[in-house]
Amino acid sequence: MDLGWGNPKASKWITNVGLVTSDGLHGPNVMAAEWTYYVSYSPGLISVHITGNSKDLSAKATLENIRATKEFGVSIASDDQNVISSIAGGSAGKNVSKVALLKEYGAEFYKAKHIRPLLVKGAATNAECRVKEMLDVGDHVMIIGEVLDIETDLSKSPLAYSGNKYWKLGQHIEKPPQEILDRISALKAKYSKTK
Ligand SMILES: Cc1cc2nc3c(=O)[nH]c(=O)nc-3n(C[C@H](O)[C@H](O)[C@H](O)COP(=O)(O)O)c2cc1C
Repeated sequence: MDLGWGNPKASKWITNVGLVTSDGLHGPNVMAAEWTYYVSYSPGLISVHITGNSKDLSAKATLENIRATKEFGVSIASDDQNVISSIAGGSAGKNVSKVALLKEYGAEFYKAKHIRPLLVKGAATNAECRVKEMLDVGDHVMIIGEVLDIETDLSKSPLAYSGNKYWKLGQHIEKPPQEILDRISALKAKYSKTK
């Protein structure tokens, strides 16, 4: 079936926003990608998902840059970077020099250690990635990157995205009271498959 963009039945996911940086045919670029996941601990792998397919001759600037250079940066936007996300996600890198625009707007970038793409200052996490695999998955290309370096600012909270809106993480949910934990333990024992 079709689960097109904006379908209310697909509006209950919560994602983060990856600011995906690249530097290639289209110069330095940044796009917003809510489909940015952490997919392996060891080795550390991150996947980003970009509309198009790996053979697409007129793909997004980010996809073309990454396809040509095999490297990208992922800056997990912090909850004060929603405007940066909207700018990165609101125009095509083939039409607008978004990095220059963002710098003039006041956003700051810094040089990465192992890759050419810049990273976004003030992000919650910044990772440098080398492409391990690119897979066509439906109408997106899944780009799996091996993490070469990662920095996290523990004082920042990641920007949340759900139902096409930005959110701040709210209240931490406390563990249930001991009596409920005890009841769950008893139920685990009752339904154990290894008795
Ligand atoms: C919050 C947000 C999240 C987005 N997530 C994705 C995504 O996961 N994958 C994707 O292909 N496009 C996504 N987009 C759209 C791209 O950011 C947009 O098409 C952008 O212009 C692509 O940049 P480029 O043309 O410079 O490569 C998102 C946009 C916004 C605002």
